[in-house]
Amino acid sequence: MILGIETSCDETSAALIEPHDGRPLLRSLVILSQDVHRIFGGVVPELASREHVRMLDPVVQRTLAESGGQWRDVSGVAVTAGPGLIGALLVGVMYGKGLALSLGVPLIGIHHHEGHLFAPLLEDPDLTPPFVALLVSGGHTMLLDVPAWGEYRLLGETLDDATGEAFDKVGTMLGLRYPAGAALERLAATGNPDRYDFPRPMLKDLTEPGRHQFAFSFSGLKTALLRAVKASDDLARDRADLARGFQDAAIEVLVEKTARATELLGRPRAMIVGGVACNRTLADQLRARLSGVAAVSVAAPRLNTDNAAMIAAAGAWRLARGERSDWDLEPFDWKPLPGLLPSPSVQPARP
Ligand code: KG4
Ligand code: ZN
Repeated sequence: MILGIETSCDETSAALIEPHDGRPLLRSLVILSQDVHRIFGGVVPELASREHVRMLDPVVQRTLAESGGQWRDVSGVAVTAGPGLIGALLVGVMYGKGLALSLGVPLIGIHHHEGHLFAPLLEDPDLTPPFVALLVSGGHTMLLDVPAWGEYRLLGETLDDATGEAFDKVGTMLGLRYPAGAALERLAATGNPDRYDFPRPMLKDLTEPGRHQFAFSFSGLKTALLRAVKASDDLARDRADLARGFQDAAIEVLVEKTARATELLGRPRAMIVGGVACNRTLADQLRARLSGVAAVSVAAPRLNTDNAAMIAAAGAWRLARGERSDWDLEPFDWKPLPGLLPSPSVQPARP
């Protein structure tokens, strides 16, 4: 079994997977979401690190117990090395090193974004590249072309806020508790779609091949929301309609850009990964838009938000290729994805 460890932000998580013919079989997964940040309306890095120190060992022990396996069944340790909060990452990296060293098994540091890309594989072991991936979470928003595992071409990313960050901030404006994404989706479901017509940021860039064709921006949309909230004389009456207007605008841009990239590149599959992939409306709309053109893969919610199973899956793939990290592995707050390919402007696929 490969043990995965994830401590990049405010989830303390461990998982055990069993590689079967190169396919990851999930044996156990424990995710402890740190509650302490709720009262602050955002993650407090120092508190996150302390919680990881307190809880990582019990979380790992529990994962092992739930797997029904023993320490001697563990043949490798995969740990998130970044991007993320350095203090939080340090806890997982140091724990992973100590454990791998004491078990006499290899250690592999995993890029958090690559972990997200492996999440759907845990539910559909036959899933293989090529595909287009929309990675949307509280910290990142990027559109990637994945011709093969380990080869990633960045088509576009956000120029300002991440999608989840925008959902969280708009949710807070509407009186929802952080993290507000899921609650905002529920509120939007009861809203009138015709009351507010918010801008669709950077959608028109889609028709022009160039640097911004697949880029995203959410800060203008967020400001438009703030203005509408301030202009409302009865927020209790308007908040569901505002949520609906915001969600429709954000999702339309995400869906159109992902679908267009999939079509232009002639990929048979698109996937949505990261915490915002929990949004059912987003998944349903991408499926409808690509119906008859490409398959759409979205994992279950607990595999979309930060978790160690996706880290173990990515780690199993890298370890099977003979890759190992040295004992001086250090966490990093930012680095590009390993295997990032140059990003030429997207040309239509040949028939
Ligand atoms: O991947 P994740 O767990 O953590 C990061 O790496 O950021 O993503 C968390 C983000 C939060 O911003 C949360 O509000 C958002 O995912 N999220 C959603 C939904 N469920 C979670 N956003 C929109 N709709 C949802 N249903
Ligand atoms: Zn994440």
